[in-house]
Amino acid sequence: MNKKTIQDIEVHGKKVLCRVDFNVPQDENGAITDDTRIRAALPTIQYLLQQGTRLILVSHLGRPKGITPKYTLAPVAVRLSQLLGQQVPLAPTSIGPEAEAAAAALENGHALLLENVRYYPEEEKNDAEFARKLASLAELYVNDAFGTAHRAHASTEGVAHLLPGVAGFLMQKELDYLGSALENPKRPFVAILGGAKVKDKIGVIRQLLERVDTLIIGGGMAYTFLKAKGYEIGKSLLDESNLEFCSEVMQSAGDRLLLPVDVITTDHNPFADGEAACNTAVCAADAIPADLEGADIGPATIQRFSSVVKQAGTVVWNGPMGIFEFAKFAEGTRAVAKALAESGAVSIIGGGDSAAAVQQMGFADAMSHISTGGGASLEFLEGKSLPGVEALQEK
Ligand code: 3PG
Repeated sequence: MNKKTIQDIEVHGKKVLCRVDFNVPQDENGAITDDTRIRAALPTIQYLLQQGTRLILVSHLGRPKGITPKYTLAPVAVRLSQLLGQQVPLAPTSIGPEAEAAAAALENGHALLLENVRYYPEEEKNDAEFARKLASLAELYVNDAFGTAHRAHASTEGVAHLLPGVAGFLMQKELDYLGSALENPKRPFVAILGGAKVKDKIGVIRQLLERVDTLIIGGGMAYTFLKAKGYEIGKSLLDESNLEFCSEVMQSAGDRLLLPVDVITTDHNPFADGEAACNTAVCAADAIPADLEGADIGPATIQRFSSVVKQAGTVVWNGPMGIFEFAKFAEGTRAVAKALAESGAVSIIGGGDSAAAVQQMGFADAMSHISTGGGASLEFLEGKSLPGVEALQEK
């Protein structure tokens, strides 16, 4: 990574504004259901506290429109305090007299968390005055929010033009893993793409096709490829507007592209009708009955995909292989995760659903890197530059 990090500048005793991505999933009562993103920021937070900084943490949570108590960062402040073994107070605002007073009361080696920065519409507009008010709280800016680095917002981009801005350890780790997969992968380099929609993955398919030895496509998006091959796909997901794109990809990839050869079908939609109503069958990928829908990859496909993964040097995986939320359709995703866990490959899991699947299925510890960024990791893999990274100081 060519950006300065917190180890490249003198931070000792300074007031530091640190952007973190504490946008964590919560249940209906506001309880945090996965604290991975909070844990992932701990190395940076602990280092800065050890250096005697007065640390002002800033994050968004959800997509509130104005001040919305449901999106308070209060549960995050509690969880962070537990993890750090040190009380982290929550300032009631992100800017203004109350935030200033909370920052002024900080002692060296202590942290506070500002209330949800997206309570202010100026944040997403990257408003210059709002960025100035945030920046006025500190002397240095650290961006450790890889998950939000694709957003040009006041707390991710604007402030970096007002204070000396450097990357935290999580940001550095994400960029190093994803960057070396693109630039200097250990070969064979295999990408596995899944998820529902072709349209969400067009950019990443284009970018990876130039670099990989094998591109594996599974999940809902695979059916549009199968249709483009001229197969009957029954009621499976179809993205009509991208049939031509799929044909072009198949033509340019040749035998570097692997598609499912068999699938697990269902006669009901598990989301609408419940899993119990779903009768499943294994079907060849070129013979899906007209009244059935493909919901997972089949056993022959699992074997094929797994054997490629086991021989890989580097694997990047983004998107599940089936409707993994339901046990009947989770086997493909589980088998790919298991093959990755057992292979000697550098394994990089894009954020979002595939990260959640790997975690739920108990394979997280066996992966080289699980990205904390869903949209951000996808944009990085598409070759786009991330505004939150661009704005930081060059080495
Ligand atoms: C994420 O969860 O992907 C990040 O926190 C960014 O959130 P956003 O998509 O609401 O900007």
